[in-house]
Amino acid sequence: MKKLPDSSIHLAVTSPPYNVGKDYDFHNDQMGYDDYLAWLNKVWVETKRVLVPGGRFCLNIAPTGIKEFLPIHHDFTTQIRKLGMLFRTEIVWYKQTMLKRTAWGSFKSPSNPHIVPSWEYVLIFSKDQNKLIDTEENADITKEEFMKFSDGMWYIPPERKRNGHPAPFPEDLIYRLIKFYSFKGNTVLDMFGGTGTVAAVAKKNNRNFVHIDISKEYCKIAEKRLTTEKEKLSQVKLDIVQNKNILIKRIGEPLAAIQR
Ligand SMILES: C[S@@+](CC[C@H](N)C(=O)[O-])C[C@H]1O[C@@H](n2cnc3c(N)ncnc32)[C@H](O)[C@@H]1O
Repeated sequence: MKKLPDSSIHLAVTSPPYNVGKDYDFHNDQMGYDDYLAWLNKVWVETKRVLVPGGRFCLNIAPTGIKEFLPIHHDFTTQIRKLGMLFRTEIVWYKQTMLKRTAWGSFKSPSNPHIVPSWEYVLIFSKDQNKLIDTEENADITKEEFMKFSDGMWYIPPERKRNGHPAPFPEDLIYRLIKFYSFKGNTVLDMFGGTGTVAAVAKKNNRNFVHIDISKEYCKIAEKRLTTEKEKLSQVKLDIVQNKNILIKRIGEPLAAIQR
């Protein structure tokens, strides 16, 4: 992220590792909690720097732990507000996963029952000001979509196609965030981009994108996915704009491919 220019991103959408011991290709997902928060705070600082004034940050996160509940969504919110970002709202992403439920705690007794998180949050922040400046011609959300998405309870099942990754986003979640919070032609960043869901949906919807992931393997999957999207788009004869900001990059390597 350090190599991205100041004020170059209109919308950042991401889901960081949750620190729950998931088997990512190239990341220790089980740090001490304070180290975990300190590590991510550096990412929030950079996110604020690269956003344009009025740029949005959509942060997907869920509380972790059922027996030992860890409210990381509250801790992230406190961190990001301390940096001076404006906390706009929180969207509840209801994942409809209760059928698989196994952890009941004290079943049928109030002595120590468990609530199972069947939801996640998308926390929404803005930099400096609420308004993102653009021309209304570049607003491409329909009236029906606007009315549906502005209800903050989103019923979206989790992604079933794993695509070689333990925790990919469902495309519908990203579609809604991109349509609701950005204009056509804007640049969208995912700094924990995994298999490239944000980049692919941004591309399909005429936004530029920046994709970052530490894993070369996931970047390769993302690149393949983007190539397929490009082919699909050209088959239906949509006008693919060539002068996009495209960055597929593994942290630690030189800034390889920004095309403008
Ligand atoms: C929750 S997953 C994101 C999945 C993504 N939303 C998708 O649709 O595929 C978090 C990602 O963060 C990546 N990651 C972990 N540490 C990182 C780091 N230091 N820099 C960049 N990416 C990192 C992991 O490789 C993993 O793909």
